[in-house]
Amino acid sequence: MRILFLGDLVGRTGREAAAAALPRLREALRIDLAIVNAENASHGFGLAPDMANTLFAAGADVITLGNHAWDRKEIIPYIADKPRLLRALNYPPGTPGQGAAMVELQDGRRALVMQVMGRLFMDPLDCPFRATADLLANYRLGGTVQAIVSDIHAEATSEKMAYAHIFDGQLSFVVGTHTHCPTADAQVLPGGTAFQSDAGMCGDFNSVIGMSKDGAALRFWRKMPGEKLGPAEGEATVCGVFVETDDATGLARRIEPVRQGGRLSQHLPVL
Ligand SMILES: [Fe+2]
Ligand SMILES: [Fe+2]
Repeated sequence: MRILFLGDLVGRTGREAAAAALPRLREALRIDLAIVNAENASHGFGLAPDMANTLFAAGADVITLGNHAWDRKEIIPYIADKPRLLRALNYPPGTPGQGAAMVELQDGRRALVMQVMGRLFMDPLDCPFRATADLLANYRLGGTVQAIVSDIHAEATSEKMAYAHIFDGQLSFVVGTHTHCPTADAQVLPGGTAFQSDAGMCGDFNSVIGMSKDGAALRFWRKMPGEKLGPAEGEATVCGVFVETDDATGLARRIEPVRQGGRLSQHLPVL
């Protein structure tokens, strides 16, 4: 199975670049399953229902959120009807929406997609490790499901790496989101799980993690609140990760970063 994951879409520039890139990348990389993180799609904060509809129409099979999940309140009634829009699995019981989705491909293959949120330097939630272990108890990779992908939305690289190693061999692909900077550690772990500790963002890199650099500089240097932070609006780099798995085992054969457009060095996998 060929899987594409695009990192956090930031603001209009990130949203539009991702929506334009999705059909193109789906075709060029012959993608079976496309997942995008859209927690920052609405001016940096949250996701509005019309934006989610646009991303689904552009070719996203699953959309994940993050700590900005509820910044746009309209998403709360919307998520109840959209099983492929995910918030983190380790929110407390009773939280609207769901943390995992089973996607059935047109050819009948099945992929489970989930998201968990880390707890280091983040709001404390239920344990992401236990939530994942409990969910995985219901599925057998390569048996009832051909691929299992987990998006770990977390600040600390250490927590993401620990997560990937703990579930190495039980997940096809672990990808980090939230820091907005693509990491150069894409690898297939010894047990067969593909891992990159952060996918990076779809957004303008002439910025501070996608937000206007002037406002962010005031906050860090002058310690003054300044004006409300807004996204940088120059050309976005579409950052993501490409993974190919073996349907029989569910394990990864290869993983490569994707970086298209904007300011970052360009990379597109060759099939
Ligand atoms: Fe983000
Ligand atoms: Fe985040």
